[in-house]
Amino acid sequence: MTEFKRTLITSALPYANGPVHIGHLAGVYVPADIYARYLRMNGEEVAFIGGSDEHGVPITLKAKNEGVTPQDIVDKYHGMIKDSFKRFGISFDIYARTSDPIHYQTASEIFLKLYQDGKFVEKTSEQYYDAENKQFLADRYITGTCPKCGFEKAYGDQCESCGSALSPNELINPKSMISGNVPELKETKHWYLPLDQYEGWLKEWILAGHKEWKSNVYGQCKSWIDGGLQPRAVTRDLDWGIPVPLEGADGKVLYVWFDAPIGYISATKEWTLEWEKWWKDPETKLVHFIGKDNIVFHCIIFPIILKAEGSYILPENVPANEFLNLEGDKISTSRNWAVWLHEYLEEFPGKEDVLKYVLTANAPETKDNDFTWKDFQARNNNELVAVLGNFVNRALVLTQKYYDGKVPAAGVLSEADVSALVEISLIKADVEKSISQYRFREALKFAMDLARLGNKYLADAEPWKVVKTDPLRVETIMNVCLQITANLTIILAPFLPFSMDKLRIFLNIDELNWSNLGRSDLLKVGHQTNTPELLFEKIEDEVIEFQVNKLLATKKANEAANAQAAPAKENCTFDDFNKMDIRTGTILEAERVPKTKKLLKLTIDTGIDQRTVVSGIAEYYNPEEIIGQQVSILVNLEPKELKGIQSQGMILMAQDADGSLKFVTPVSPVKNGSEIK
Ligand code: 2FM
Ligand code: ZN
Repeated sequence: MTEFKRTLITSALPYANGPVHIGHLAGVYVPADIYARYLRMNGEEVAFIGGSDEHGVPITLKAKNEGVTPQDIVDKYHGMIKDSFKRFGISFDIYARTSDPIHYQTASEIFLKLYQDGKFVEKTSEQYYDAENKQFLADRYITGTCPKCGFEKAYGDQCESCGSALSPNELINPKSMISGNVPELKETKHWYLPLDQYEGWLKEWILAGHKEWKSNVYGQCKSWIDGGLQPRAVTRDLDWGIPVPLEGADGKVLYVWFDAPIGYISATKEWTLEWEKWWKDPETKLVHFIGKDNIVFHCIIFPIILKAEGSYILPENVPANEFLNLEGDKISTSRNWAVWLHEYLEEFPGKEDVLKYVLTANAPETKDNDFTWKDFQARNNNELVAVLGNFVNRALVLTQKYYDGKVPAAGVLSEADVSALVEISLIKADVEKSISQYRFREALKFAMDLARLGNKYLADAEPWKVVKTDPLRVETIMNVCLQITANLTIILAPFLPFSMDKLRIFLNIDELNWSNLGRSDLLKVGHQTNTPELLFEKIEDEVIEFQVNKLLATKKANEAANAQAAPAKENCTFDDFNKMDIRTGTILEAERVPKTKKLLKLTIDTGIDQRTVVSGIAEYYNPEEIIGQQVSILVNLEPKELKGIQSQGMILMAQDADGSLKFVTPVSPVKNGSEIK
């Protein structure tokens, strides 16, 4: 086994076409950050690389939809994403962007080297072309009917209705999304990476050489490799991206998945002049943190690029996570089904660690998982507040109370004291093992065991009772509690960095490195601690209800947007219609019908008379707001008794897709009694 000297951690570069959400954090950035912080605390040499992915068709589409340039889009979202990560304390050594000049240069150089070494295959093929706009169409720019399910708005690469992966020539009735015209097929030349030529090497390198990779990652690689690899085009006909650095390649750019992972290299170059030691020295351990949709690019395509180039190291591990769902549904940017980080930061100021804690405790490491606001509340209230916060607060408050905040001396240790202190070393070993195997969820559980242990130790020792009979014994108990608290600042620092910074201020100590974990002399006798504040606070039901209602509103809005109009009813004759006497009228009085939720009793001036109508609109209108409202009323409907009231006629209402009712009213007032025909 290779002994590594340093660790290069990369985290997937998010597309700069929208803000980041909890799925990003849980899948990639929180685990990568825990890993980086843990290694740094161990005194290891670490580079933690991040940045925005600023190319690709989704960015050009978004720009087109918003009527701005792709540059406007990436500038806006790069800034927003970078700010969210910073405020969440993701400890990147650099957060770069793929529009940086150094990235253009690096990606172009690697492309050229591969080209000159004959690593590409050139191929001409027929692709869809929009003659009116004189441009080839990326798969996403073509829509048509899905051959699998008949959905009429499928994209050239995927049907969002049935989820099938498609290629543009499979679409029935393809249309250009730019002009709306039927596209024509036209020949175009591209450069392909012959993945098939690397199958033998991949079998050896991954299937035989990296059996220790997570089973979801290894399994996906195996199925790609066993299924047979095809050459992949690494260039595209597009006007947004890094121009293909060859003569005669006007209008062509590098494929986004060719340049994006090279972004890790260019970001390292931007960060340090010594970048080669990070990328070319076999004593560097390269680890890619990604989500499962990126596995093929990081385990197969990018390694082939690096291998073909010849001078780079390959990833030692790719601990990809599965997906995080939200309240039972797939997170979706287009459906606004997400908890956006910039919104969380505004709505839960100072609670960055709480979200990181919940996302780690419930991380989608081995299967897709669900984030729910109820679970968020429960983990905060029952774990962070009731266990961790409660223990450290009691330890510090009692120290203030009994010893003016000075650490008391430990006397003769009891069996319980010794076993608590021994336990710390055992927990340390467990956490180390879990982290080294990228099992952060398990590592956090072990680390929290130390807080649980402290809580139980304090509850069993009952210093508040013993103080009356055996004050010397209390000194020992409090010394042990404070040493456990100091150990917590180490073991939880990779997971809850802001909170452990605070706890160290309460303890009045500097940052401690990982090797100190397990010691029972971290705080010297007589050391002065500070008056503590609460480390975590309870999250009340109203706060959670607000968030749940926000999601419900999103769901309703989505349903309304997707709702299809009800099919037309059977034909009727003009005479049928003419039987109905519909007039304009005005509401004079309105009151709720007692013991009903939906009914209002209205008095209407119909122009013919004043009459009473019982109407089922109480869920959408308050009585006082509709006095004076002009309405349309069917005046010759047979009278009917409703809840003991004689209703004479019916108010016409339009029902919106979300079920809400709106008055059908002339656009400008007309005389009451006017006929509607
Ligand atoms: O899936 C994504 O969001 C991509 N932008 C990830 C790129 S990772 C790397 F290759 F840059
Ligand atoms: Zn379909």
